[in-house]
Amino acid sequence: MAKVVIEQLVKIYPEKGGPGVRAVNSIDLTIEDREFMVLVGPSGCGKSTTLRMIAGLEEISGGTIRIDGRVINTVAPKDRDIAMVFQNYALYPHMSVRDNLAFGLKLRRFPAAEIDQRVREVALLLGIEPLLDRKPKALSGGQRQRVAVGRAIVRKPKVFLFDEPLSNLDAKLRVTTRTEISKLHARLGATMLYVTHDQVEAMTMGDRICVMKDGDIMQVAPPLELYRRPANLFVAGFIGSPPMNFLHGTIESAGAQLVFVERNTAAAPLRIALDERLSTRAAGRIGQPVVFGIRPEDVNDALTVSAPAPGTTAEVTIEVSEPMGAETYLYLHSGAHAFIARVRGGAAFDSTERLKVVFQLENAHLFDPLTERALS
Ligand SMILES: Nc1ncnc2c1ncn2[C@@H]1O[C@H](COP(=O)(O)OP(=O)(O)OP(=O)(O)O)[C@@H](O)[C@H]1O
Ligand SMILES: [Mg+2]
Repeated sequence: MAKVVIEQLVKIYPEKGGPGVRAVNSIDLTIEDREFMVLVGPSGCGKSTTLRMIAGLEEISGGTIRIDGRVINTVAPKDRDIAMVFQNYALYPHMSVRDNLAFGLKLRRFPAAEIDQRVREVALLLGIEPLLDRKPKALSGGQRQRVAVGRAIVRKPKVFLFDEPLSNLDAKLRVTTRTEISKLHARLGATMLYVTHDQVEAMTMGDRICVMKDGDIMQVAPPLELYRRPANLFVAGFIGSPPMNFLHGTIESAGAQLVFVERNTAAAPLRIALDERLSTRAAGRIGQPVVFGIRPEDVNDALTVSAPAPGTTAEVTIEVSEPMGAETYLYLHSGAHAFIARVRGGAAFDSTERLKVVFQLENAHLFDPLTERALS
């Protein structure tokens, strides 16, 4: 059992002549026993600081961290039963792989026979048995990474912390190592907290994802919920590639129906008739500014949509077309907004051509431009 509960956790780094850098801003987060939780967010948002406080490598400025009910705020790092894997693997260069794996256990005075047994188990699990007598400099990046993970596993800790462990690997190796870590999580049944910049890693590895920004938590949810029901503009724009399109405008009523009208002073504005779901959300906002959010895959070439809902089509300009094979990204312009459509590959599109598109509203969103929150 290893449930990690973080409450009102704060980190303020001292700063000469200033109030200090508020790196983590009173966050609450629970990582369930055996959960794989991914922490994502832009550079400097406080991911590593959070991890380092859990590991005990950084003093806590406020709040509590509990593991299985026990407050560990002041427990020494070595007594926390946590293992951390860093971006730069920091293997001991003068030691063989075997000694690197065994080091933590020796330090904790495990009997030699048990150390031997555990090192062999872990080497087998990670497929690094043939490398046990080599020094780190004689290993590839991927092999070094596996040794670093092995060094964490060999201690059988309650909680694993990973801080961008794959960012030094090339693209292909990242993908295979990513699946290896996921498999390892399933086999070890351990609680893991994994930091990454990479939203594909976040989406594919996490049971849940915690999105951070400027020391605050923006949303915590399973990957697809985060994708389908982002709580705010930040999460909506951060998860998904190419990102969600945002159009600024207002809500108007046209008879019984509500319509999103793009803010556009030059040309004729886009008008998108809202379906029932979005109308319910926009009710009470007639005449007020909103942000309309729609993912690229929900903007389609009208020729490929059999019965578009009335009022959901528009003619726009194609600025650039990027054929990717299975799909094509179309960079479009409405006259006021640039946005992206992700359509099936195959058809050829000319840039500067006009295109009739359909906005498919099932997964579209409306946001309040002031609070940046999704309307619900
Ligand atoms: N030792 C320190 N002293 C002062 N400020 C620090 C210190 N370490 C980090 N910070 C600041 O705290 C904030 C959070 O840093 P942190 O390293 O946690 O970010 P991160 O989310 O891990 O970013 P990255 O994705 O770039 O690794 C940043 O503004 C950073 O400049
Ligand atoms: Mg970091």
